[in-house]
Amino acid sequence: MVRTKSKEQIELIGKSGKVMAEIFQKVPRQIRPGVTTDQIDKWIEKFIKDKGGKPAFKGYRGYPKSTCISVNEEVVHSIPSSRVLKEGDIVSIDVGISLGGYISDAAMTFPVGRVSGLKRKLIKVTREALYRGIQQAKVGHRIGDIGFAIQQWVEKHNFSVVKVLFGHGVGFSLHEDPVIPNFGQPHRGERIREGMVLAIEPMVNAGEDKVKVLPNHWTVVTVDGKPSAHFEHTVGIVNGNAKILTSL
Ligand code: MF3
Ligand code: CO
Repeated sequence: MVRTKSKEQIELIGKSGKVMAEIFQKVPRQIRPGVTTDQIDKWIEKFIKDKGGKPAFKGYRGYPKSTCISVNEEVVHSIPSSRVLKEGDIVSIDVGISLGGYISDAAMTFPVGRVSGLKRKLIKVTREALYRGIQQAKVGHRIGDIGFAIQQWVEKHNFSVVKVLFGHGVGFSLHEDPVIPNFGQPHRGERIREGMVLAIEPMVNAGEDKVKVLPNHWTVVTVDGKPSAHFEHTVGIVNGNAKILTSL
C-alpha cells in the first residue's frame, strides 16, 4: 500500500534531501585514483552524522556500511572495501539518509580521472534517463509512464536497462510501495497521486541487461562484464508535478 505524505512531511524529507545534495556536490573531490571505496564511505558517513542524520543503509537487512559504492561492471549494492580506485574506472555512489526519521535516497555515477568514450556516454545517457523518468512522474500519469520513458531513451542509445531491480516509494522507510520498474508501457500501472514520494533509479548496462549477485549476497554485477551506471533521485509529487528533493 502506498503511503502518501503531507506537504509538511515532504518538506522534512526535503531536509534530508538537502544533506544528500550537499554530499553529491562535495563528494567528487574525494574521488581520485588511489583512494579506496572505504575512504569514500567513511567521508560520507561522517558528513551525514555531522548534520545530525543517520546512514539509512547501515543495518538495513544486515547491510554493513553507510553507502553502496559500485565500480565498473558492478551494477549496485557493492560493499565499500579496501578496493583502490584507478584512472579510467567509473564509480556509482548510492546513499540513504535518515534525518529525524525522514528518509531520502539518491545515487550518481562519476568518472575517476579520464575514462573511455563509452563510459562517458553511459554516464550521460543514464543521467538523462533519470531526468526523463522524473518528467513523467506527475498526477494524471501512471508508474508505467516512468519506466517507458527511461527504457525508450536507454535502448535508443543501444544500452540496456536492468530489469530485476527497481525504484521504489521512500520517505517513512527506505523501501515502500510502489515498485517502479525502469521499463514498462505507457498508461499502465498504478496512478501517480499527489503526496507520493518516489525514488526513481535507472540502472543502465553498456552491454546486455543480464546481472548476477556475487557470493557475498550483495554485489550485483553484469554477466557480460561490461560497465553499468546508476542515477537516482528522491522526488515528491507536489502541486501535480515531481519536485526533486535530493538536489540543491
Ligand atoms: N538505494 C538502494 C536501493 O534502493 C538501497 C541499498 S540496499 C542497502 O536499492 F541495503 F544497502 F540499504
Ligand atoms: Co533506492
